Amino acid sequence: MDGIRENRDKDYGIGIPVAGQGYFLKGSDNLDWGMKDRLARIFRPSTGRTVMLAFDHGYIMGPTSGLERLDLSITPLIPYADSLMCSRGSLRSVVPTTSGKAICLRYSAGSSILTELNNEVVLDPKDAIRVNASAMAVMVAMGNQNFEAKTIENLVRTADAGYKYGIPTMGVTAVGTDMVRDAKYFGLAARVCAENGANIVKTYYCDGFAKVVNACPVPIVIAGGKKLPELEALELCYNAINEGAAGVDMGRNVFQSEHPAAMIQAVSGVVHEGLTPKQGYEKFKELSK
Ligand code: R5P
Repeated sequence: MDGIRENRDKDYGIGIPVAGQGYFLKGSDNLDWGMKDRLARIFRPSTGRTVMLAFDHGYIMGPTSGLERLDLSITPLIPYADSLMCSRGSLRSVVPTTSGKAICLRYSAGSSILTELNNEVVLDPKDAIRVNASAMAVMVAMGNQNFEAKTIENLVRTADAGYKYGIPTMGVTAVGTDMVRDAKYFGLAARVCAENGANIVKTYYCDGFAKVVNACPVPIVIAGGKKLPELEALELCYNAINEGAAGVDMGRNVFQSEHPAAMIQAVSGVVHEGLTPKQGYEKFKELSK
């Protein structure tokens, strides 16, 4: 009892209301502490955005261009990313345990490009816990006659495990070849993911993207898609951010660039520093010298 000081009202802050903390990501106010802690590792609280480096392509494609040797192509880029999206195989075999980056674990897997894609199952949540995942990413094949229901079930099961253990779920919208890549489709796909428990949605930029973002109650990140000339890729990032994306989950436009380290830093400039595509491209050229 000797350490309890009486008659020092200021220590108790009498008369000072406890300030509410709020939270910086939309749709996340009511999540538990662990969820918010993990989301704050993926998204920088200072900007509310993320540069997620995606290199999970091998889980369906094998050693695709730029990912033949992950240790040589990806490891040098890790310092410039906020978060890493990868399979547990590449995580355990290549990503240094000292990297300190938020891991968005590829959490669903199934068929490869040699057969029909999207016939997936999900991992055991205990493995996500073992690798200290900050999010679990699950493919959702919206509009796919064969696999829509199964992949939504995967998302639901993942979100159930996520809420149990405090790990956010990222719904990854897979676009079927016969789907029209417009705001109506992406808006539906993103919303269905969020309504079924996703805390983050990954989708693609399209005309009318602001409608997709506004109709989705949780943060959206965009995939980069196939390799574009660097200036065009930076324009894609800029437009997406300008229309409300909370960041990018970008792979090929980074690791297939002639200068991947310069490219990821230019992307980060657009995402976090408000660079225009032209300014981002200047940065890319400067860092490529
Ligand atoms: C697709 O779902 C893969 O998981 C990639 O992570 C995703 O497409 C992002 O990579 P990219 O920017 O190359 O499209």
